[in-house]
Amino acid sequence: MNAMSQDTEPCTVGLIGLGVMGRNLVLNIADHGYRVAVYNRTGSVTAEFLSQHAGDTFPDGGGLRGCDSLAQFIAAITAPRVIVVLVKAGPAVDAVCEQLISAGAGPKDIVVDGGNSLWTDTIRRERDLRGKLAFFGSGVSGGEVGARYGPSLMPGGDPAAWDRLRPIWEAISAKVDGEPCTTYLGPDGAGHYVKMVHNGIEYADMQLIGEAYHLLRSVTDMTPGQLGDVFAAYNGGELESYLVEITADILRQEDPVTGRPLVDVILDRAGMKGTGTWTAVNAMELGVPATAIAEAVMARAMSADKDGRTAAANVLAGPRTQATPEKDALVDSVRDALYCSKICAYAQGFQLMRAAQTEYGWTLDFGEIARIWRGGCIIRAVFLERITEAYRRTGDLANLLLDEYFAGEIARRQDQWREVVSRAVLAGVPCPAFASALAYYDAYRSETLPASLLQAQRDYFGAHTYERVDQPRGRFFHLDWTASTRRQVEV
Ligand code: 6PG
Repeated sequence: MNAMSQDTEPCTVGLIGLGVMGRNLVLNIADHGYRVAVYNRTGSVTAEFLSQHAGDTFPDGGGLRGCDSLAQFIAAITAPRVIVVLVKAGPAVDAVCEQLISAGAGPKDIVVDGGNSLWTDTIRRERDLRGKLAFFGSGVSGGEVGARYGPSLMPGGDPAAWDRLRPIWEAISAKVDGEPCTTYLGPDGAGHYVKMVHNGIEYADMQLIGEAYHLLRSVTDMTPGQLGDVFAAYNGGELESYLVEITADILRQEDPVTGRPLVDVILDRAGMKGTGTWTAVNAMELGVPATAIAEAVMARAMSADKDGRTAAANVLAGPRTQATPEKDALVDSVRDALYCSKICAYAQGFQLMRAAQTEYGWTLDFGEIARIWRGGCIIRAVFLERITEAYRRTGDLANLLLDEYFAGEIARRQDQWREVVSRAVLAGVPCPAFASALAYYDAYRSETLPASLLQAQRDYFGAHTYERVDQPRGRFFHLDWTASTRRQVEV
């Protein structure tokens, strides 16, 4: 018998996957009085984790029990079991479920997938595993610190499974004004869907911050350290958020090797694991113009082509250098542009969830979603309270932009927003998310768009038909565009 199996006290919860998120979540769960059985495919990782925490004491009878086989893991947890799985999204989740069934897990055992799984996989797993396991999906956001001290948790699946998971999820989640940053979001894939959109918004938020930094850095003489102070000041106002806060911190960091600003030493190639792309693809599939989110994904792709950009930089001309603007005024305008663009990005994310609930048969509570994002997660921000208030004012709000608070904020700041986008364009500094958010705003408030011309083109070359402004919707017409007698027929 090895060190891992000496403790024989039964556990109330199990966790599989001791990566960074898994380790921290285990400690968080144990901190709330649960005895947690832990298992990792590579046994030495479990042993190392247990020895690191051998001296830890947990309140209210909480504790850890290491298991070196899944059979031992299943035996260690009191049935019906709650098993949290934090393994790499994809086939590993399917493999763990199959192994759990082989090891003796049963239909009453809840298996909570806490990874960034594609929501359609969650729908499939919930359906295919019914009668074998109670499969349940939950988004977990907040990185390692969130997992350890309070993440935002986005659960979706069978309501009966949620009833059993709920006390644990409410205990370990972040709290804002005493309220847990978790709520039941809906059946099957709803939780993972909402987490995916969270990540899409996260991409847009990060890109917008990057563009604000890039413009200020390019057209003023401010150093990264001074720009860190600018972002710290932004964080004192309506932009107060985790991402703006860490940006201030990052910009003030020096490289321990060279002493240069660390942001100048880090290679400008962005990575991504897929959730932002899924959001953009799903927006396209559902026909929702989530333009700022899509631009954020594309901007990462453009950044990744470092070699191509380096070669092009020597060939392609930019504009003649613009005069340096009045610095303080620009700092204020960029703040306004950032806030307006951020409002549009969130409006797009919520529009996407609105379309999704119809498409996938869910009933999402948007005010609650904004509420559980207020703490613990990467996009946590004071601003989310405004979104909750907007949905509490008008439950079936057609678009966040139409809420009186957001409409007023943009009306008040739009001149600065336009000036910032213009300045970036004139200076040749790319600002795809700022510009696309502004185009989204302008398009959404346009009663008339040139799609009439586009429809005419489609009908001209392909007889694709058009509707008329003077006829009810749903009646389609075609014109014989090139015939000597132009005749319109109803199709
Ligand atoms: C979170 C994050 C997290 C995500 C990372 C990296 O909510 O804690 O969204 O789930 O994995 O942010 O994502 P990318 O590698 O795609 O940037």
